[in-house]
Amino acid sequence: MNQGEVKQAADHPLVGIIMGSDSDWPVLRAAASTLKDFGVAYEARVLSAHRSPDAALDYAEAAAGRGIRVLIGAAGGAAHLAGVLAAKSELPVLGVPMPSKHLQGLDSLLSMVQMPGGIPVATFAIGEAGATNAALFAIAMLALNDSVLAQKLSLFRLRQTEKVLAKTLPDLP
Ligand code: RP5
Repeated sequence: MNQGEVKQAADHPLVGIIMGSDSDWPVLRAAASTLKDFGVAYEARVLSAHRSPDAALDYAEAAAGRGIRVLIGAAGGAAHLAGVLAAKSELPVLGVPMPSKHLQGLDSLLSMVQMPGGIPVATFAIGEAGATNAALFAIAMLALNDSVLAQKLSLFRLRQTEKVLAKTLPDLP
């Protein structure tokens, strides 16, 4: 494994999944597997806003030129990674707050969602639901210019609805 690299899923990734630590990967896998299910090429990397700030800034600065269209930034605790990526890139940045040891991710959520006006980070739910939804949101944005992807998204939503409507509840004893 190259330094800072968790997984490279394609030659020409459209989505960059950046996380502050490899300890975030078990949660971020949900984003990666969602993108994979839709056939959207992504790359996933560990880059910390405070432990490897220069590399995080360099990545953000170069991302658009490398063909990346959306960035997913995930971190826990002070969670400034998504804001740092957004500071150096005009790509849409989707923030996923990681569950944290002492405050269960509330610290991550607030530090991410409370970006001062001017540099937006679209912030999702804490944890796996947020990781999944960030990927689905990235897919929805890419689908605006990709009719095949738009059809896949419609089918996914239809199947999801069908699953809910097929649920039955047990009778009382
Ligand atoms: C953040 O600190 C990371 O995003 C992670 O959620 C948290 C803890 O990191 P480790 O100490 O597990 O590397 O920067």
